Amino acid sequence: MNEKLVEILSDGEFHSGVELGELLGVTRTAVWKHVSQLAAYGLKVESIKGKGYRLERPLCLLDGVRLRNDIEVRWKGKLREFSVAHSVGSTNAELLASSKDLPVGLYDILLAERQTAGRGRRGRAWVSPFAQNIYMSVAVRLPGGFSVLNGLSLAIGAAVADAIKAICNIQVSLKWPNDVWYSERKLAGLLLEVQGEQEGPVHVIIGLGVNVLMELEAGSAIDQPWTALSEACEVKVERNQLCVALVDSILSCLESYKSEGFSGLKGLWDKYDLLKGRKVMVSSGDQCWGGEYIGVSDEGYALVRGEDGLVKSLAGGEITVRPVA
Ligand code: BTN
Repeated sequence: MNEKLVEILSDGEFHSGVELGELLGVTRTAVWKHVSQLAAYGLKVESIKGKGYRLERPLCLLDGVRLRNDIEVRWKGKLREFSVAHSVGSTNAELLASSKDLPVGLYDILLAERQTAGRGRRGRAWVSPFAQNIYMSVAVRLPGGFSVLNGLSLAIGAAVADAIKAICNIQVSLKWPNDVWYSERKLAGLLLEVQGEQEGPVHVIIGLGVNVLMELEAGSAIDQPWTALSEACEVKVERNQLCVALVDSILSCLESYKSEGFSGLKGLWDKYDLLKGRKVMVSSGDQCWGGEYIGVSDEGYALVRGEDGLVKSLAGGEITVRPVA
């Protein structure tokens, strides 16, 4: 896709073939070809003789330079790589490969306007249409082996919920282990991918997807109840502003996680816990049982009291806990 063309058309105004040709340094036929390629990105272009081309809906694109500057104000010296891609397979997959040599104490961050192979938990796909949502990955190397990961994804979930609440002024909740919900529907999800030695420093990729402007058409492939900030918030959400708040909150969380672990952030998680005191169904493989969800332990396990009265401590990964309607 011609990135400059999208930037020019993002204002939603008409631009003639001649003007576009001059700005892009190509012929009018080449302009037409570039415009017709936008359909593959889900962008609908209106073309009117004598007026030119315009996007059916204006776009507010992520501004890589502004984002980097805003983030560096607070995190200068901690940020190694920061970039915004127009289209990638998966920001997690890209960062897993590119940040292998990341030193302890630094962060690499990658955002994308679209993912063609976005990864969700449990092998699901993460629907990632162009310029509608936030797809972000943060790479970090944590000292101390795999045990340091207990509770990390929960702590990050709380940081994400905090940032969304601060920017959008809505009451979000967390569904264990790390889905962000609004009004009983999923708004955002986290996927942590890890490489390293059991005992040595671990290389963690924190992948975050937030539905911001997801349109019904794009979201029709999602196989669970979902929502987007455009539906939940009264004010229009500016993705750049939300990105800065999310990065800030996630990096602050990582810094305190390094010194205090999950126990220092559990209080924050409890504040957002969607399931507390609710009846839930627990599924693990082909087994399914009902119980009452009590909360999370200091290590980040879900505590569920079964019908036999015994409290079971559940780790993420294999187990799904869902509320009973
Ligand atoms: C979930 O299933 O709830 C987790 C979704 C995680 C999606 C994000 S989008 C950015 C990053 N790159 C990916 O491929 N996945 C994560």
